[in-house]
Amino acid sequence: MQKKHVVVLTGAGISAESGLKTFRDSGGLWENYDVMEVASIEGWQKNPELVLKFYNERRKQAYHAQPNAGHLALKELEKYYKVSIITQNVDNLHEKAGSTNVIHLHGELSKVRSEKYEDLIYEWGDKEIHLGDKCERGAQLRPHIVWFGEVVPMMEHAINVTLSADYFLVIGTSLNVYPAAGLINYLPATADIYVIDPHAHELPIRSNKKVKLISEKATIGVPKVVALLIEEATKQEH
Ligand code: APR
Repeated sequence: MQKKHVVVLTGAGISAESGLKTFRDSGGLWENYDVMEVASIEGWQKNPELVLKFYNERRKQAYHAQPNAGHLALKELEKYYKVSIITQNVDNLHEKAGSTNVIHLHGELSKVRSEKYEDLIYEWGDKEIHLGDKCERGAQLRPHIVWFGEVVPMMEHAINVTLSADYFLVIGTSLNVYPAAGLINYLPATADIYVIDPHAHELPIRSNKKVKLISEKATIGVPKVVALLIEEATKQEH
């Protein structure tokens, strides 16, 4: 029997219990930086050293972070469903947990790219980049991150994936940032939606029968929902 399709939209909240701060819980400041100074194209043009310092720190921190029970439960789901993870996170905790189909809407901390030739992308681990570090064609290296004010190249692909969802899990995102937050509008009417977030009831999602709000942390809520979905899949097999 063909596996049903679970599409998962994750945000900073799923990585919170792995020690990576969420954006909103830090009161709009990341490690005491103003987001528009370090995560926008204007910020890069105005003060590239500050931006490089900010991402060098976050790249090191994410490199040493470990996936938590939320990430690991999503990996487990792959045994029973086709699972597509669409993440706003720039850490690689879904990959570290073993998920095999991860779409990064906002880029990846572990990668850097040429400022001029954007298809020149390099795996950078936890190393730093500084002004004067060049790509193989002599242009400045920059974080492989989608900054505020830049287009989201993977959005069309994410929409196509969402169109075929049987289930849609929203985990650890305040749904404040577009176009990512708009994905929910592309869901088939038949899709069941699960929202896992301690503040699930405050999120901008009209709750109806198809939406189940689980006001739990990811390490509690995600394994719960995954167990439910696995039970459903195994029931259908018999
Ligand atoms: N488990 C699950 N959810 C949690 C947890 C947790 N342990 N802790 C916090 N949350 C929830 C918060 O309630 C909030 O709804 O995670 C969400 C985090 O929201 P944001 O900090 O806004 O993160 P996110 O939605 O991913 O931000 C989107 O904005 O900062 C930019 O580009 C950046 O990708 C980011 C985008």
